[in-house]
Order: sequence, then structure tokens, then C-alpha cells
Amino acid sequence: MKKFSAVLLILVLAAAMTVVSCGQRAGSLIGIAMPETHVMRWVKDGNSLVEEAKKLGYRAEVQYGDANQGTQNQQIQSFLTQGAKALIIGCINDGVAPVITEAAREGVVVIAYDRLIQNSADYDFYITFNNFKVGQLQGQSIVDGLNLDSATSAAPKFITLFAGSPTDGNAFFFFDGAMSILNPYIDSGALRVVGPYPRTSDDRANFQRIATENWQAPIAKTRMENLLSNDARAVTLDAVLAPNDTLARAIIEALRADAKYRGNLPVVTGQDAEFASAMSIRNGEQFSTVFKDTAKLAEAAILLADQALRGVPINIPGAVLAADIGLAEIGDTGRKVVHAYLLDPILVTRDNLNVMIEAEFYERHEAVQLQ
Ligand code: GAL
Repeated sequence: MKKFSAVLLILVLAAAMTVVSCGQRAGSLIGIAMPETHVMRWVKDGNSLVEEAKKLGYRAEVQYGDANQGTQNQQIQSFLTQGAKALIIGCINDGVAPVITEAAREGVVVIAYDRLIQNSADYDFYITFNNFKVGQLQGQSIVDGLNLDSATSAAPKFITLFAGSPTDGNAFFFFDGAMSILNPYIDSGALRVVGPYPRTSDDRANFQRIATENWQAPIAKTRMENLLSNDARAVTLDAVLAPNDTLARAIIEALRADAKYRGNLPVVTGQDAEFASAMSIRNGEQFSTVFKDTAKLAEAAILLADQALRGVPINIPGAVLAADIGLAEIGDTGRKVVHAYLLDPILVTRDNLNVMIEAEFYERHEAVQLQ
């Protein structure tokens, strides 16, 4: 009798993990949980994910967590109650882990979307961009923008550093990528840091001093204003390492209020190719952004979910497995190393804004303003 019940249990569990066939997609819900809407890109991601899921025949619903993990957890639990077969989650912080455990218990496929779900061993997939390379591109745009290869310790350039949210694992990769490019110029004296200088994000105390909780623009603007009145009062900044476009524009707002920088803005980096920042770059204010074609990320995420649900080998065109390029740690949750699929980011300055136009990344009425 015992043997029969054991076999029955295995069959029941196997059924719980049953993959969907192509024909069953229509009855299968994919729940999409995005972190917030105060950073515009997530709205675009959410819409693209729903569109791609429906193209493959799935039911799909997107919810935005308003940068509150408790809110997002309720949204995810609602998806589970509705019988979602897969969840695609851009989390806010590692407080999401308990609902990932719940999803795993129900045999639901979980994909971390552009933000690693940390401190969890209960999921298998992460899809994002090569976030270390995002930072390297930001660092390189400062080297190019300041012509640092011609600078010397006798006539140094001055930079101040900002980082993203300390609750977002990406922020550490962005920063470390940028500093891998900038540290040699700091070591030579050609580049001088004004304000806190964490050499890498391992210097948690100083990293925390330059980090921006929940990527909130007002926090970055206030910190820039404080730097201008204190640490940066007696110098003219040549560059600001800004980790994404929302913060870049807030930093520029603070700089423009200081007579010293009117018509003389430092090189300010960014990320996400938000339209407002593309216009700022076109108008000679923000210096660069990093384009991460989130339409491609959304397509890849849905393809990954579909292949996982159908139980077929994972093959995502345009993405590389982090482990295959020596970046397995990008998938290290602290409890498990998940399969991390990486898409390629592109550095954009005034010279190649057409990259987003050709990718049809903006609405038509926006694209015409950029040309
Ligand atoms: C990060 C993401 C960036 C940026 C930032 C602010 O996790 O990788 O592209 O959007 O969040 O939301």
C-alpha cells in the first residue's frame, strides 16, 4: 500500500509541475509584477510583456508595486490565487522571497525580470542585461567625454559619484562596472573624486553614502544640492556618475540652479534611454545614456517563460548565459546561482540617438522630435 501511495504522490507532484502544451496556452495566465511607475521604463516593460505574452497565446496581466514590496507581494499572491502558471517579477527588494517560495510550492515558473530576486533558492531563471557592462559603458562615456587619456594629475578633472538603490542588486553591478573603468584614472591622479569615494561597492559604508533609496529622484536632487554647497563648493565638477536617467535629470536640475554650471554642465551619465533624457542629450545637457531595448527583454522573458512552461530546452536568441561569459555571479541570489540570461546594452550619446529611433523604442510623435 505504501509503495502505491508513494507512486501516487510522485504522479500528483509531477502533475503539479505539468508543463503546458501549445494548445493549453490560452487557458494559462502569466502574472507580471513590475516594481513601480515613477521610473517610466517599467510602464513600457509591463506593456511589452503583456503584448508578447498575448502574441504567444497566453493570458497576461500586469500590476505595478508602487515601490512597495508588501503591495507587490499581495499582487503576486493574487496571481497565484488566479492560478497563474508563470510569474515574471521585477522586484523592489528581497522581501519578495516568501511569495517566491509559495509560488515554487505550487509548481509555478518564476522569472526574475531585470532585477535579481535575492536571498531565495526557490526559482531558476533571471533575465536582464549585462549590468556590469552597463556600468562600464557609463564609465567609458566619462573617459570619452572628458578626454581623460589626455588629463594629468597636474591638471586633474573632478567627478562626484551617485549610485542606484541599495535594495537593488543591479546598482552594485552598475557601480562596479563604472569604477572598473574610472579607478585607473583616479589612481593616476588624472581624475579626482569630490565627495564619498567607494572604490567598489564592497566599501558598503561609502557606497551607502552615494546610493539613492528606491531610485527616488528627489533624493538625488537634494544630495546634489548639498554637494554643491559643501564638498563641491570650491571646485568645478567636470563629471557626475549618474546611474540612470531619472536620477541624471534630477542631478542636472540641481546643477542648472547653480550659476557656475549654467551653459557649462559637467558630463552626466544615465541609463534606460528614457525619452526625456534622449531630448536632454539632443539639447546638449545630459551627456549619455545606456540603451537597454526593453522590448527585446520583454520578448526574451516571455520566450523563456514559454520554454520553461513547455519543458523544452531553453534557447533565447540574442541572450547569453552569464555563466558562459564568466559572469555567473550575476545570478548569485546568496542562496543559489540561478540561470542568468543577459542581453547587450548600448551606449548612446548625441551622435547615435538614432539607435532608439531605429528600434522604434519611442512613440512616433516622440521620435520625430528627436530627429
Ligand atoms: C534597475 C534597472 C535600471 C533602472 C533602475 C531604476 O534595476 O536595471 O534599468 O531602471 O532599476 O528603476
